[in-house]
Amino acid sequence: MTKGLFITLEGGEGGGKSTQSRKLKEYLEQKGREVVLTREPGGTPEAEKIRALFMDSNGTWSPVAECMLLFAARAMHVRDCIKPALDAGKIVICDRFTDSTRAYQGYAGGMDKAVLEQLKTIAIGDFEPDITFILDLPANIGLGRAAGRLAKSGGVQDRLEGKALAFHEALRQGFLDIAAKNPSRCRVIDATQSIDQVFQDICKHI
Ligand code: TMP
Repeated sequence: MTKGLFITLEGGEGGGKSTQSRKLKEYLEQKGREVVLTREPGGTPEAEKIRALFMDSNGTWSPVAECMLLFAARAMHVRDCIKPALDAGKIVICDRFTDSTRAYQGYAGGMDKAVLEQLKTIAIGDFEPDITFILDLPANIGLGRAAGRLAKSGGVQDRLEGKALAFHEALRQGFLDIAAKNPSRCRVIDATQSIDQVFQDICKHI
């Protein structure tokens, strides 16, 4: 048992996870809580190096290799960042976690789900978030938002954003299935709403 609270935000592209994570951090800090905001893949120096490998648009990883990269990064992140913060009584907000691997590599990517869970157990045991918000929206809307964001920033589409619409639709169904199978941990939030409405929905559960 840890003393803190582990919150994750999940969902496909363009759902506003990063914006909501930042807003939630501010809100909880105003209430006097110590908050660590982190993300996956990444969150520690070693895990950020794996992120760079994973996100490289030239990468052609096999599904099992992708999972091993992600769980290697996650093992370091949990050991060196998340667990120490929770043990110190802090709230940890993480932008994506194991449900992203289940949805992207498992449901949408075709990786065997039982093997994925075995890798998860090897990397982080039975560690799971206390609460997970799944920011849900139709894949075409999410991809449209992500494309708009890129056009504004002049950035480059990442390897997974560039996959076909069918991949992103399978991803959405995957996240919804994960939520249905984990009702005490997961809350599905309608991410087609305004930023403020989405945030209010999150705060109701917090
Ligand atoms: P993001 O930080 O913009 O959400 O980008 C992370 C990308 O990595 C996103 O396309 C989802 C993908 N991803 C996976 O495929 N599996 C995972 O386990 C995680 C954490 C991310």
